[in-house]
Amino acid sequence: MSARLVAAGTAAAQQPWSRPVAPPATQEQPWWRSAVVYQVYLRSFADGNGDGIGDLAGLRARLPYLSWLGVDALWINPHYPSGGADGGYDVVDYRAVDPEYGDVSDVEALVADARRLGLRVVLDVVPNHTSDRHPWFQAALADPDCPEASRYHFAPPSEEPPNNWRSLFGGPAWSRTPDGRWYLHLFAPEQPDLNWRDPVVAEDFERTLRFWLDRGVSGFRVDVAYGLYKDAGLRDNPGEYSPTLFGHGPEQAMTWNQPEVHDVWRRWRAVCDEYPDTMLVGEVCLADLDEVALYSRPDELHQSLSFRLLKSAWDTPAFAEAIGSALEAFGRVGAPVSWVLGNHDKDRMVTRFGGGGTGLARARAAALLLLSLPGSAYVYAGDELGLPQAHVPDEAKQDPIFFRSGGERAGRDGCRVPMPWNATTGVGFSRDRSAKPWLPVPAEWKRHAVSRQTRESGSVLHLYRQALAVRAEHPALGTGEATVSTRGHVLTVRCTGGGRTVRCVVNMGADTALVRSRGRVLLESGPGVHTSARSVALPPDTAVWIAED
Ligand code: NOJ
Ligand code: CA
Repeated sequence: MSARLVAAGTAAAQQPWSRPVAPPATQEQPWWRSAVVYQVYLRSFADGNGDGIGDLAGLRARLPYLSWLGVDALWINPHYPSGGADGGYDVVDYRAVDPEYGDVSDVEALVADARRLGLRVVLDVVPNHTSDRHPWFQAALADPDCPEASRYHFAPPSEEPPNNWRSLFGGPAWSRTPDGRWYLHLFAPEQPDLNWRDPVVAEDFERTLRFWLDRGVSGFRVDVAYGLYKDAGLRDNPGEYSPTLFGHGPEQAMTWNQPEVHDVWRRWRAVCDEYPDTMLVGEVCLADLDEVALYSRPDELHQSLSFRLLKSAWDTPAFAEAIGSALEAFGRVGAPVSWVLGNHDKDRMVTRFGGGGTGLARARAAALLLLSLPGSAYVYAGDELGLPQAHVPDEAKQDPIFFRSGGERAGRDGCRVPMPWNATTGVGFSRDRSAKPWLPVPAEWKRHAVSRQTRESGSVLHLYRQALAVRAEHPALGTGEATVSTRGHVLTVRCTGGGRTVRCVVNMGADTALVRSRGRVLLESGPGVHTSARSVALPPDTAVWIAED
């Protein structure tokens, strides 16, 4: 028997999420080990005051939607006062809120509202670099001998930069101050790197963690957690800057992954341990997955995002390798895998997987795969609507990657375009329909609108909601153990938990696949799945969850 997607049966005036919801079931293991975390790109989620920029009030008003969807937590991209050079990742004040987004009391209100709905709030913290407008850097510019100067990497004036390090956004990693000194920035020049060998830096970040933890947040996503420390002698990198598909390798040995950084995570873990049920999830972009896993040893970060699926082509060996290697590497340190299929730095998966109907079918199948795997799952806002990568005209682009590469790299604006809420002018992003969104929303995005998808029983949105509900009912999904195998173009993840087994079977080939099964189909990612007593016929680019008898 195949499960049917349940229509919410709503009128536009009475949205389904306006109904009361039950609090989530108590879990025996810490919540974060199997949480579904929804990533909110704050600037693009919902605009509460009509200035075309997403904000905390807008997000608060949409919390019932997230609760209706069935996620456990939300992670919010940086909300701090910022120089605006890199989407908020250039922070001016770590213990404040950018007035564009609201103020500290809005964060408190958000946390309180979220808690009432059974949702946790995770913030982003950016310890590798500050904004060049941060008071420390401003002081260091004004006076090379002030204490703040030793909190960054400055080098005396000279013809050539101190070494061969390159910025990840293009160009050299060193720029000059007005008085001719060099300073280090592994990202944009507006993001000077902090010197973690100065103890004041560590002390200040611990203050920041406590500031937000005291306000009830459930933890932090840690930006560039593989950075912070640099080679003490600032020696040249041994190789050309050419990161491999999965992250930095030995060619960048002097800039990333210095052994000292692990002590920072041990201290941060100890701080979090003082606050029950909080967690740290790191961004660790290293080519060697065993090195990544070391960041999630039992006394360090609770987990590290696993980007393997995000960077894999639609192909059984690539997906099987991505899943198997992550399970093994994180399993060795006893950490859960944190699976990612989309975020604010990569092209939307519908587009990555081929675009159009094919890309969408694959993205739907990938969603079932993501939500079956043991560990936590990170869902990027808009992926539950099947949004494709948006075309953003060059003149509207904001991403420093586009500018620093002289337009050679498209940049990340296309995955950061505001959410379509209603099929009206302005797609319901701003309270005021005539407000100009900070990035242009393609006119055809009305068809992806939340209001429209809630009324279509076969929509991507309903698929996500249904999958989250089924996942919550079956311990085999998310909290179980898994093995991965392939047969031709068919990928199978066998998940066992709570004494039951659920198989997630994905047909990544071009022909219908016949899958032997005596089980019950719990959910299918798209139409055309036929079940008989002994088998399931799976169309191309489709996934099913089968509960074994
Ligand atoms: C990783 C973030 O995800 C990205 O958006 C940002 O540009 C860099 N870190 C620098 O902070
Ligand atoms: Ca706003």
